[in-house]
Amino acid sequence: MKMIKLLLLLLILFLNNNQVKSVTYLEMTPYEKSDCSGESEGIGYAFIVNQCFAIAGDYYSVSLNSDHSNSTISEYKDGENNQCTGLISDNDKVYEIDGCYNAPNYVWNSGAVPSNYVKISISVNPTDIPQYGFRQTTYAPGDKDCQSNPQFYWYATNNTKIDMGNFSATFYCSDNESFEIYCAPGCFTTDSSMTCIRDFTHWATENYMAGSC
Ligand SMILES: *[C@@H]1O[C@H](CO)[C@@H](O)[C@H](O)[C@H]1NC(C)=O
Ligand SMILES: *[C@@H]1O[C@H](CO)[C@@H](O)[C@H](O)[C@H]1NC(C)=O
Ligand SMILES: *[C@@H]1O[C@H](CO)[C@@H](O)[C@H](O)[C@H]1NC(C)=O
Ligand SMILES: *[C@@H]1O[C@H](CO)[C@@H](O)[C@H](O)[C@H]1NC(C)=O
Repeated sequence: MKMIKLLLLLLILFLNNNQVKSVTYLEMTPYEKSDCSGESEGIGYAFIVNQCFAIAGDYYSVSLNSDHSNSTISEYKDGENNQCTGLISDNDKVYEIDGCYNAPNYVWNSGAVPSNYVKISISVNPTDIPQYGFRQTTYAPGDKDCQSNPQFYWYATNNTKIDMGNFSATFYCSDNESFEIYCAPGCFTTDSSMTCIRDFTHWATENYMAGSC
């Protein structure tokens, strides 16, 4: 009897623990076609749900409605102590789950403007992030080792040409190394000498300075 009680207690602790650790993302998966069919290609995003996070110094929080049919991205003036305050009103963006939309622009630090479409989905406790041609990720402020769950990332799928106005860049991974084809308008290829698993850069401090992990 004691044993059963102990097992039950352990089970409850285990379930509670799992609940605490559960993390949900709003995913925007890129497609070239306006009905979001075919191969995934272009610029996409993932946003953590129900946490205050920053993209290039602007604060956001993503929520889901009760039956998870809609998501809302809200923007805030402040995000001190990981709390979003000062809602910028009339600026909420609503995306229906499973909907297909023109990609919004949450790209930062590059001048890239997405021209693809994105399919909206929810992902609970994703186990890994696919290998993309390019990805920039933010972690919670203070997480200088990038040990926690990413709060946000934007990415370009392998071989997506990213138009930056007067030049373009195409990133791809080959043999675990990252390459960039840079065209302005003549093209050359550079080896970025980083593995494809690692981010190129990301922001991991409260001031959103480039981190070192
Ligand atoms: C989801 O959002 C759409 C577009 O704003 C709206 O028309 C619809 O009523 C919403 N659905 C629910 C269940 O809130
Ligand atoms: C592209 O334009 C920006 C701003 O207009 C300029 O600073 C930059 O030097 C240009 N780059 C090239 C490769 O022409
Ligand atoms: C990315 O594209 C390159 C060049 O086309 C290819 O060699 C490589 O296998 C692709 N990598 C992945 C992860 O799909
Ligand atoms: C690619 O690099 C990562 C990180 O260094 C490593 O864990 C992985 O085994 C490598 N994969 C291949 C195919 O070399």
